[in-house]
Amino acid sequence: MKRYLADSAATAALASELLAVLPADTAGWTLLLEGELGAGKSTFARALIGAMGHLGAVPSPTYTLVEPYQIADRRIYHIDLYRISSEEELRYLGWGELEDGFRLVEWPDRVPGLARTADLRLSLSYAETGRNAQLKGLSERGKAVAGRLQMANLDHPKD
Ligand SMILES: Nc1ncnc2c1ncn2[C@@H]1O[C@H](COP(=O)(O)OP(=O)(O)OP(=O)(O)O)[C@@H](O)[C@H]1O
Ligand SMILES: [Mg+2]
Repeated sequence: MKRYLADSAATAALASELLAVLPADTAGWTLLLEGELGAGKSTFARALIGAMGHLGAVPSPTYTLVEPYQIADRRIYHIDLYRISSEEELRYLGWGELEDGFRLVEWPDRVPGLARTADLRLSLSYAETGRNAQLKGLSERGKAVAGRLQMANLDHPKD
């Protein structure tokens, strides 16, 4: 699925659309948020966490590396791997203990091999005054979600 996102509101709207096609139980799911500095990874994560029902602030995990959220039954981990550079460091961070939640990962390319176990990848890139977005399913269940988003777009085209 590809889409031009004219502004940050469009990035946030895409997060709501994704939530609508995600299963209620996202424990153990991983969404990779790829894109260069300022591409809108945090904007998307913030909108998704907000759309899931979180009312407070969504601080950037740049320094804490992991920001956990509990929203009703849903556990979410907003993760920033900017300062991580290997699978070993990722283990040290306690990656395996985050299996019980939905992992939203900024800078996933810092750890080669992460895509092997992820479900979805959103790639954001600069385009004109906005961003281009591409959502790709990586796992079988991720592909099903990406397919549902594609179908929803065909039913309700944006532009
Ligand atoms: N579709 C869009 N079009 C234009 N600007 C956008 C869009 N989406 C987000 N932005 C803006 O881009 C800026 C950077 O966004 P954000 O912090 O989410 O990026 P990031 O990828 O998380 O950056 P970092 O690499 O520092 O973590 C913000 O000012 C945000 O409002
Ligand atoms: Mg960010």
